[in-house]
Amino acid sequence: MERQAASVRDITYQTGWCYHNQLNGLRTPSPHVMPDPASLPPGVDPEQVREQEYTRAGFVPTRDHATAYLYRAHPGPSWRRDGIQRLAAEEVAPLWVTGRYAPPRFVGCQPRRYRAAPIEQGHAIQNLRTLLYNADVALGISTCTREMPYFFRNADGDDLFFVHEGEGVLETEFGPLGLEKGYYVWVPRGTLYRIVPDSPHLFLFHLENYGEKFQKPDTGITGDAAIYYHRNIEVPTLRYSLSRGDFQVVVKQGGTFTAYHYDHHPCDVIGWDGDLAPFRLNIRDVKPITSWRAHIPPSAYCTFLGNGFEVCSFVPRPVETAEYALPVPFDHMNHERDEVVFYSEGVFFSKDTSAAGTLTFHARGFSHGPHPRALKRALERRQREGAFLFEGYFVMVETSAPLSTTPWAETLEDKDYPNSWLS
Ligand SMILES: [Fe+2]
Repeated sequence: MERQAASVRDITYQTGWCYHNQLNGLRTPSPHVMPDPASLPPGVDPEQVREQEYTRAGFVPTRDHATAYLYRAHPGPSWRRDGIQRLAAEEVAPLWVTGRYAPPRFVGCQPRRYRAAPIEQGHAIQNLRTLLYNADVALGISTCTREMPYFFRNADGDDLFFVHEGEGVLETEFGPLGLEKGYYVWVPRGTLYRIVPDSPHLFLFHLENYGEKFQKPDTGITGDAAIYYHRNIEVPTLRYSLSRGDFQVVVKQGGTFTAYHYDHHPCDVIGWDGDLAPFRLNIRDVKPITSWRAHIPPSAYCTFLGNGFEVCSFVPRPVETAEYALPVPFDHMNHERDEVVFYSEGVFFSKDTSAAGTLTFHARGFSHGPHPRALKRALERRQREGAFLFEGYFVMVETSAPLSTTPWAETLEDKDYPNSWLS
């Protein structure tokens, strides 16, 4: 596929998620010029300070190119001598399937619904369980009750977490980001992080992206502020540690896990800037495009574009009220997309049930549309009230390539779901 060279607009808005300066008082006029030693924070050894270029897409100016310059209190390759150790996947994350490298596993074409995953004791990585995957993306759930005992770098893909239940903190080398209900939290591949719950448990919907970094969809005639704006994107505020001790960083690469051991805290970034950093966006800041005359398809709710998939946010919106206008989606057969919906909160407008934490998987190959009871419910309510809001928050992922299911997904499957359209 031919790639377009990046334009100024690409870099500043559509692809870069914009530039951020968290240099924290370091005096340096440009990348590759080391900070003035007099501007270093107390306790930092000038001899040890390094600039680390944190980048993706190499040095080629494709739309995926992005860079941050991290100023670290220690050299990047400063692990302990003999401090690298291969770990067994069964011990680290036994049910995490790295879709990019996993063989397809197709189990037939029918509508599928998966019950909410049980809350498991343990931390976010060991409890990360994949439901569906292809070579572009893997979708799963992580529930956790305790903090991760190590830091983690995912070299295979970007991690997108959607916080369904609970609160906590995502510690990163760029600084911390709060985990609260309704937040999408994007961790670019390779970013060091650790998930720490602040509530009895966290329930996270997880997406692993193997392609280029997310794009903000082109919102065309609706303008740059649709359907969310820069100010809704929050990057971490720098926080670092110079403490010493025994620190472990687990790296996932090619679906394998390797531990690195350091004598210093790995969040030792004393300043950074650039256009590549973790961020969070709350689904409540997504503003839907609506029409009173025609049901607007989910493309109007597209929040992130990936290679081979889209992430769409369903949020509260007024029902269509024009005469004969359908207040729910039309029957559809989309033959070049598989469709997954994660039900977080509220009543989904076209489904007869939308229990929190459940997930539906509609592969290409069959027709579906509103459940009869959902259509009746919407029509009757509109008749009675004239107009009303559909209330709820739901995440949809549509993929270009067919999705495979995992054996773990089958343990959660509601086998009667295909009959839910029948009276
Ligand atoms: Fe659909």
